[in-house]
Amino acid sequence: NKNSLDSDEDEGASEASFKDAQVFDSSRQKNNGSVPQENGIKKHRTSLPAPMFSRNTISVFSILKKCIGQELSKITMPIVFNEPLSFLQRITEYMEHTYLINRACSLSDSTERMQAVAAFAVSAVASQWERTGKPFNPLLGETYELIREEQGFRLVSEQVSHHPPVSAFHAESLVGDFVFHGSIYPKLKFWGKSVEAEPKGTITLELLKHNETYTWTNPTCCVHNIILGKLWIEQYGTVEILNHSTGDKCVLNFKPCGMFGKELHTVEGYIQDKSKKKLCVIYGKWTECMWSVDPQVYESQKKSEKKGDGKKNKNEVDRAVNDDADDMPDVQETVSVVPGSTLLWRIDPRPAHSSTMYNFTNFAMSLNELEPGMEGILAPTDCRFRPDIKAMENGNMDEASQEKERLEEKQRAARKERAKSNQEWSTRWFQSGTNPYTGSQDWIYSGGYFNRNYRNLPDIY
Ligand SMILES: *[C@@H]1O[C@H](CO)[C@@H](O)[C@H](O)[C@H]1NC(C)=O
Ligand SMILES: *[C@@H]1O[C@H](CO)[C@@H](O)[C@H](O)[C@H]1NC(C)=O
Ligand SMILES: *[C@@H]1O[C@H](CO)[C@@H](O)[C@H](O)[C@H]1NC(C)=O
Repeated sequence: NKNSLDSDEDEGASEASFKDAQVFDSSRQKNNGSVPQENGIKKHRTSLPAPMFSRNTISVFSILKKCIGQELSKITMPIVFNEPLSFLQRITEYMEHTYLINRACSLSDSTERMQAVAAFAVSAVASQWERTGKPFNPLLGETYELIREEQGFRLVSEQVSHHPPVSAFHAESLVGDFVFHGSIYPKLKFWGKSVEAEPKGTITLELLKHNETYTWTNPTCCVHNIILGKLWIEQYGTVEILNHSTGDKCVLNFKPCGMFGKELHTVEGYIQDKSKKKLCVIYGKWTECMWSVDPQVYESQKKSEKKGDGKKNKNEVDRAVNDDADDMPDVQETVSVVPGSTLLWRIDPRPAHSSTMYNFTNFAMSLNELEPGMEGILAPTDCRFRPDIKAMENGNMDEASQEKERLEEKQRAARKERAKSNQEWSTRWFQSGTNPYTGSQDWIYSGGYFNRNYRNLPDIY
């Protein structure tokens, strides 16, 4: 059993064939690839080469019912549950709202800067909304780069560890305003009806002109109803953004939805100074928008609302014990805005064809595009060259599945070779080190990626 050698890998979908699966609409979308516009700014593609396969034709239950009680890492997940992006590309989606970092850089008031950073931290997880597809596990040594002149940044990331999987990234402003970096260790837990992904690892944002550093950790993401019912996503946990120059902080509480869904997708928190004085309240939904308001105004509004509904929730049944699907509470209500609030961020609508393309945002649609001229420039380890992701994006599920298996087999063989000759794997663009602000273990960019010296890179594809 090859699984015993390499339990963390999700193996290829040998048991499922996709020949019978139906394509939503086989007419290919017009591929509007990247072409420079008149103003010199590149236009990126806004759709994938092919729509996704319908998952309805595959019995999820038949695949997963035998897995209950097993470690998630041992379960063979068919590729049809993936989305055609590597986890390295998925974390690059933090950069979709880079304008919020640019805004923070431009503000002279420190509380307003913290508000913009808080909005950025929330917006960074907003792309996960309705994204139930699982990104591909990066191979050890896999890299991803993204340069966006119009947004003013460049980013490089590398899969620096396989057991446990760790992805390190480093982004920097093209004009020297900020550095944004981190390392993410997604810890997955299978709860029978749901999968919980805890994104361990610290995220650090440095606003260089202001000599300010902020650090935080993302909330926990949970995908519900993986066996029965409709898949949906919840994020919960407390995110603390620390200003390391002063010890001031912003506390954001991503609320679990609760039995009656009153708090579905709700985020609520505040910014406090060193003496714990609340400077402002921040509230909204990570799927929608975030606002800030004076703490006293907020409290008095909440008090007058409470008078309105005296009764409280009855018994919160432990939802893990019953057999029914945990449906997403049907709450249409949007954020109720307290008078006097300031809008910090609002989510962009998804493109109309998003639902047939893994619920991707426009930004996500463009991430795996091999733009003209890139082939000769990218590192050969770049995700855009991964044949399994490419095949899936083109709608060739059988090929994607075979290629995924081949790559994982190749990775296992390379590891065995290294073990035989007592060779240690060495990372290329990041070094294990200590985050100078939090003191925790982190992966620090060693620099030089954009000099494009690709000698001695491993052959991983
Ligand atoms: C963050 O630290 C800087 C530098 O000491 C300070 O000027 C600023 O007031 C702090 N900002 C917030 C929002 O805590
Ligand atoms: C996309 O969102 C819809 C609506 O919530 C959901 O039913 C569907 O399962 C989602 N698709 C993916 C691939 O996550
Ligand atoms: C930036 O902050 C650090 C630590 O808080 C301090 O040592 C340094 O002198 C500051 N530099 C500037 C230019 O303010």
